[in-house]
Amino acid sequence: MSRYQKRAVVTGAGGFIGHHLVKYLVQHDYWVRGVDLKLPEFSSSPAQDFLLLDLRNEENCEKALTLAPGESFDEVYHLAADMGGMGYIHRAECEIMHNSALMNIHMPYCTVRLRIPRYFFSSSVCVYRDMDFDEPELSEAGAYPALPHNEYGWEKLYAERAALAYARRYGLTVRIARLKNCYGHEGTWRGGREKAPAAICRKVAEAEDGGTIAVWGQGTAVRSYTHIHDTVRGIFMLMQSDLEGPANIGAAYSVSVNELVSLIARIAGKKLTVQHVEGPVGVKSRNFSIDKICSIGWQPEVSLEEGLRMTYAWVEQEVRRSRLAESALRAVSNISTQDAAKAVLELAGSGKPETKQLDAEGDERTASLHYNAGV
Ligand SMILES: NC(=O)c1ccc[n+]([C@@H]2O[C@H](COP(=O)([O-])OP(=O)(O)OC[C@H]3O[C@@H](n4cnc5c(N)ncnc54)[C@H](O)[C@@H]3O)[C@@H](O)[C@H]2O)c1
Repeated sequence: MSRYQKRAVVTGAGGFIGHHLVKYLVQHDYWVRGVDLKLPEFSSSPAQDFLLLDLRNEENCEKALTLAPGESFDEVYHLAADMGGMGYIHRAECEIMHNSALMNIHMPYCTVRLRIPRYFFSSSVCVYRDMDFDEPELSEAGAYPALPHNEYGWEKLYAERAALAYARRYGLTVRIARLKNCYGHEGTWRGGREKAPAAICRKVAEAEDGGTIAVWGQGTAVRSYTHIHDTVRGIFMLMQSDLEGPANIGAAYSVSVNELVSLIARIAGKKLTVQHVEGPVGVKSRNFSIDKICSIGWQPEVSLEEGLRMTYAWVEQEVRRSRLAESALRAVSNISTQDAAKAVLELAGSGKPETKQLDAEGDERTASLHYNAGV
């Protein structure tokens, strides 16, 4: 282990940003322990060590942060959270307030107890209040007086304050990123926790050219979307920097959901009609300063169009793969049904089991057909 530059724990390493962060750290000569409830879904983790642990439990947090006697971690990147897109944030506010708060209470406490000097917390621009369309940008101080739009934002604000309290009392170095919406390949693209860019890429990939896709609300809500490459680089640079207090990380531009849909449809080469349907849309507008993170030399490198091209290509491939898997499953179940029907007809015709033919297809099936024939 000593040949590595540093040792780090990444929580949430089975999730979207955590998995990409692990790759980045390993490429930068880190020895990394990933921790999560699950392994990454789309590719294996390059972490040298990976523990499956529930971090709502204090003992598990301690386990996650403990190395062999005499050895210790240099950095903790705490990204584990109960989270999802706007649909999930709306319907799971109790789970978010309970599960994420427990993790965010134990993690800074255990980091201090195990004398790990540096702690990163992944906060969110959801800590800010809703904004009007033409409002001037808010800097980090604009989070107070606090009025987050949802419980996810309130919980993040509490967790920021918990980490900062440990910084004041115990001298823990704390770095906090307030992340803007992040998108890219290997992110959740279906199942209810996906965020707008992935959900729209999926809907567009699933639609026929000339077809219709449903979009929640009027599509006027304005957001900025940051490619995963820039988010991960920003997290790393912030952690190595001297920047005190939370820092916004994300792209400088903003687009409406309607503009996002048009851009993705153009990338896909499809003409689509948008049907606006009822659904949770979140805040009206977002406009946050990135001057603080830019002051340490970070700049977004991936344009929205370039990032969405890469993301759409990946989501489209996932959609194709899942359709293939579904039709293969259907084919398998059709074959069995037909075979079974044929066998039943044969049995009905003869009045006794045709054991020779059935045995060739497997004992278990033979046994069940014998049973059915007897009924
Ligand atoms: N993706 C974004 O656009 C975005 C924006 C703002 C802030 N953030 C924050 O960045 C962090 C990472 O986000 P993400 O997009 O990778 O989310 P994600 O859901 O893909 O990853 C979070 C991971 O935390 C894990 N986790 C949840 N409960 C756990 C528990 N009890 N014990 C251990 N692990 C647990 C999940 O299994 C998941 O793999 C989160 O803290 C999130 O709030 C993300």
